[in-house]
This record gives sequence, C-alpha cells and structure tokens, in this order.
Amino acid sequence: MSDLLIKGARIVDAGREMAGDVLIAGGIIEEVSEEIPPPKGIPLLPAGGKFLLPAFVDLHAHFRDPGFPQKEDLLSGSRAAAHGGFTVVSLMPNTDPPCDSPEVARYILDKARRIGLVEVHLVGAITRGLRGEELVDMEALAPYVWAFSDDGHGVEDHRLMWEAAKRARELGKTIYPHPEFRGLPSRELGEELMVARDLWICRRTGARFHMAHISSPGAAELVALAKEKRLPVTCEATPHHLCLSREEADHPVNPPISTREAVDALVKGLVEGIIDAVATDHAPHTDADVAAGVPGISGIETAFPLLYTRLVKTGTIGLRTLSRLLSLGPARIMGLRKRGLVREGFVGDLVLVTEEELEVTGDFFFSKGKNTPLLGWRLRGRVWATIREGEVIYLDGKVKGRDFDDHRQVIRGG
Ligand code: NCD
Repeated sequence: MSDLLIKGARIVDAGREMAGDVLIAGGIIEEVSEEIPPPKGIPLLPAGGKFLLPAFVDLHAHFRDPGFPQKEDLLSGSRAAAHGGFTVVSLMPNTDPPCDSPEVARYILDKARRIGLVEVHLVGAITRGLRGEELVDMEALAPYVWAFSDDGHGVEDHRLMWEAAKRARELGKTIYPHPEFRGLPSRELGEELMVARDLWICRRTGARFHMAHISSPGAAELVALAKEKRLPVTCEATPHHLCLSREEADHPVNPPISTREAVDALVKGLVEGIIDAVATDHAPHTDADVAAGVPGISGIETAFPLLYTRLVKTGTIGLRTLSRLLSLGPARIMGLRKRGLVREGFVGDLVLVTEEELEVTGDFFFSKGKNTPLLGWRLRGRVWATIREGEVIYLDGKVKGRDFDDHRQVIRGG
C-alpha cells in the first residue's frame, strides 16, 4: 500500500489513451490527469513517455508448488510474473498433491502471501486427485478458490461435470473446463465436443463457465453461439495459440499449436470479441522434461512481447484491445473489482512498457522453465516496470526481494 507519482506517461487502458501523470496514494489510484504537481515526500517515477497500462492479470498459470520445485516454485513463479508485467495470477491445481483440499490451498496462499510479490488466486480441482472419478468436497474448497478445473485433463464423465456445475452454481463459483477429449483421431473435434457439452451443461444448470485455452476455430464459434443466447460463458486463448503457427514453431504443448489457417481464424474470433481474455498457460518444465517431450510453454514473461509484436505492431488489434484482453477482461472473469483500468479509485497495479526490442535467451527468464519455441527470437515490447499497489516490484531487469529490497533505492524521492 504505497504512494507513488508516475510522471510523463502515455496512459492506455481498455477505454482510453492520454498523455499524463498518475498519482497512487495508499495503493489506490488517486488522480489521473495531464499534469500533477509532485506532492512532497512522495516517490516519483519518471516514465519518459513510456506506455502506462493497467498491470496484467493471468487467469491460467502453473507455479508447480507444491510438488515440482525443479520446474518452478511460488517464489520463482512470482518473480517471473512480475517480470512479465503481471500482478495477479490464478494458479491451476495440477500440483503434487493437487489443489483438491483446503490444506493444499492454504499452503499455497500462505506461502504466496509471505513472498508478497504478486497476488495469487486459486483454481481448485473438480475431482479428487484430478483422476476424473469422484468430486472434491467443493463446499470445503470454495472459500479458497474462484473456480474449479481439472486442468490438464478434460472431465470426460458427463454426470460428474453436471454435478460439479450444479454445486458450483450454488456456491457462486465458476467451472473452468479444460476442453479436451482423448481417444479421438481429431484433436480439434475433441475440443469442440467438450465445449459443446459444457455449454449445454451451462445452459441446463445456469452455472458460470470459463473455457480454458480455446485453440480451434470451431470451439470459438460454439462460444459465440452461446454468447448470443446470453449464457454465462467466457473463454480465453493463449499467446502461443494466437501468435504462432505449427509451420514456424513446433513445440509440444496442450492443446497443440495449430496450422496457420486455424490461427488466422482464431485471431478473427479475437478481433470480433468472442475471446474475453488472453491467459498464458505458463507451464514451466526442466530441460530433461523438454527432452522427454513433456508438453508446455514457459510463457508468462514472453506473453506481452509476443502479443505486442505479432498482434499490435502488425495492426491486427490496438493496444487498448490488448489491454482489455490482458487486464480488464481477466479481472472481470475472476470477479475482481476496481482492477484492470487506469482510473481514479482503481487498485494502483500498473505496468510501464516500451517499444524496445529484446532477444529471448535463457538468461531472459526469471522462471526456472526456459521451455519455449521463442529462444533466439527478437520481439518488441519490453516490460520496463511493474507496480503493485503503488510499489515498484520490478524495474528494468531487477525484481524486488532479489535485486532490491526497497523501491526507494531505485526511484527518485520518498
Ligand atoms: C500443462 C502443464 O504442464 O501443466 N501443459 C500444457 O502443455 N498446457 C498441462 C496440460 O494442460 O496438459
């Protein structure tokens, strides 16, 4: 809950663009205007004309804690998030043990709070052990999670998904399907069938549904139809499914990277407003995992540069639309209030970005996972500073707690 004056920025959010200053007091945005005279004793961050956006919110990340510290843990994941411009992350339950009980949820939330870098929210498992056989105690888990998902696995049993949706509706929680059905020759058809089934369960139960990583244009079409019917449904796509084609980036990930034709169709869905949010599906793995072909992309740090380079610089979408997809959209899906815009009364979570070019190398990553098809790529759109509740948690290559302990050491005044 800090105070900070950011001067001389190009402010962009989902609704507007303006040149000006932003004053944060006690962690909340107090004033946004063309010129704010520096109040005494408040630290000043000169933005030098950089873009100032609301900080990003990631609906879909894997920090591997508990269970897989060789891939990632809550500390390295939090640092990677700050480096990527994210101040809020929602973590998936495929840890070991999985997040299917209040004990595991409390362990993650307590540890994340002690680290104190980014705000961590949880998605709880739908079935015990993510085995797809019996439901978790959703009532017991509900106070700790905003949604339920068997991420990494589609819930193939219709009766279980139907029961889960009815309970989620009673509890006021979201069902977050991972729409995948193994054992069909066509992977796209598997995604489409699961989305169609879940939309029908959504219609029958009235439960809120948010569809994970839509990658097939047919699935996006189904979501569009459901939205026309005003069903309570939203969906996300990942940076890699929106920006990369199988022809140029061959990397194992679930769902697989699509053909150029399918990517173009998915981007059309994005432009038409069918996709509500971009979520990273940050899935860090070790080099040994990569050699063994384990699917996943370490993506929370490359999300903004990849989207900026491939979608904004090409004129496909504007920076305001990207801001909606990375901040306001996901914040609304999670039910977070006063987040995702640079407006008075909103939380002082902001990010400063530049048009500068960067090269994706192993050293670029704060994440333990360097598993990405982007190694060696040059991208534009560098996150220069990440601010959480008025406190600078990442600045120009340095992250709070690792490279500096107090933002007053790196910015003027205070
Ligand atoms: C995910 C992971 O590694 O947690 N990997 C991925 O490719 N998206 C799990 C999964 O969805 O298969």
